Amino acid sequence: MRYRKIDNTLFKENRFQFSKLLLNNSIAIFNSNDLMPKNADQLMTFKQNSDTFYLSGIDQEETIIVIIKKHAQVRELVFVRETSETLKIWEGEKLSKEKAREISGSGSVFWNTDFKGMLPELMIGIENIYLNSNEHPRANIVVETRDARFGKWMRSKYPKHVYKKSAKLLHALRAVKKPEEINLIQHACSITKGGVERVCRHLKPGVFEYEIEAEIVHEFLTNNSRGFAYDPIIASGGNACILHYDSNNDVCKDGDLVLMDFGAEYANYTSDLTRCFPVNGRFSKRQKDVYNSVLRVMNSAKNLLRPGVLLHDYEKEVGLLMEKELVDLKLISVKDVAESKSNGAPAYKKYYMHGTSHHLGLDVHDVSEPNKPLKEGMVLTCEPGIYIPEENLGIRLENDILITKSGNIDLMENIPIAVEEIEDALNI
Ligand code: GLY
Ligand code: MN
Ligand code: MN
Repeated sequence: MRYRKIDNTLFKENRFQFSKLLLNNSIAIFNSNDLMPKNADQLMTFKQNSDTFYLSGIDQEETIIVIIKKHAQVRELVFVRETSETLKIWEGEKLSKEKAREISGSGSVFWNTDFKGMLPELMIGIENIYLNSNEHPRANIVVETRDARFGKWMRSKYPKHVYKKSAKLLHALRAVKKPEEINLIQHACSITKGGVERVCRHLKPGVFEYEIEAEIVHEFLTNNSRGFAYDPIIASGGNACILHYDSNNDVCKDGDLVLMDFGAEYANYTSDLTRCFPVNGRFSKRQKDVYNSVLRVMNSAKNLLRPGVLLHDYEKEVGLLMEKELVDLKLISVKDVAESKSNGAPAYKKYYMHGTSHHLGLDVHDVSEPNKPLKEGMVLTCEPGIYIPEENLGIRLENDILITKSGNIDLMENIPIAVEEIEDALNI
């Protein structure tokens, strides 16, 4: 692995907490993600299933994790792919059983080819079968996942059992990060900081958006990251108003801002940052005014992220903060605000059309229990923005925030964000 070894206490604890949520006489089974095809004989880079990683630390294809709770006793089994002579020649060694034991902290490691043969014995006395599925509220899945295929196979083999969902249990657990996870996210943030510093050294009029992307990925790869935690947005001028712009093909022009939304991955954990820099090193008066409006909203919004808060209420409060800034910038009027109150479509949505915060962890839009109050240990982004296509100007600022017992800690507080800090960093 490219990252330092993660203490397996984390995965043991994750399995223990999950097993506590299972009904008695249950089996829960988790698969790796598939190796997804490109064209001809090529495959996409493997990305481990986040739940399988969370419960085992095993970062390898065709892994199966089994957790059994019977007579209040828990058994945990890990099945991994065995290295064949062919694999050894073409792909190199897969994990040995000993290595898989060391990574996962589970004493029971088997080859995945033994899984189907062992299953009848594992199923003795089992009443409930917990299957996994991607139940992220915004997921739009059009391919059949390995977990889904496996689920069909289980249902055909064991049609009379009671089927349950693991996803709901994992959403609650994964939303609250353990200290080791927070360290890993903080480390991802610190690699991202290096990316920002590198951009400061390379940004100038005439640079292409993809050249900025190249500088950032260079920084990430040389710092033990496998790369971007999500496709980066490097959007200069009016491109910044396209919320999911990621073609990154344009040239950065003198006088424009460039919006950069990127974050490093580290040990499968994510970071998520947005900064907007003036291409020529200095903000214009108008750019500065809009930028400072976004920054004020961000600073106030950050303070609202604390234990007990419901994200739904928080988003409403941030909307009011944004409304005031947009009126001050003369983008909307007090009359627009009043009228929008009566028709139920807030006026600020014209210039700020997305949410302010999402959970962050093994996935950049991490799983959570959306209608439950925030808790200590959760990590969320804070990312307000103002998008004005008629001025070719889009500004978003984004940091990653850890909820603590009494408030929060900004995990990106040491990455330049104030206008003066950015101008200083760009003009060394
Ligand atoms: N770049 C993904 C996000 O900010 O949510
Ligand atoms: Mn984000
Ligand atoms: Mn982002």
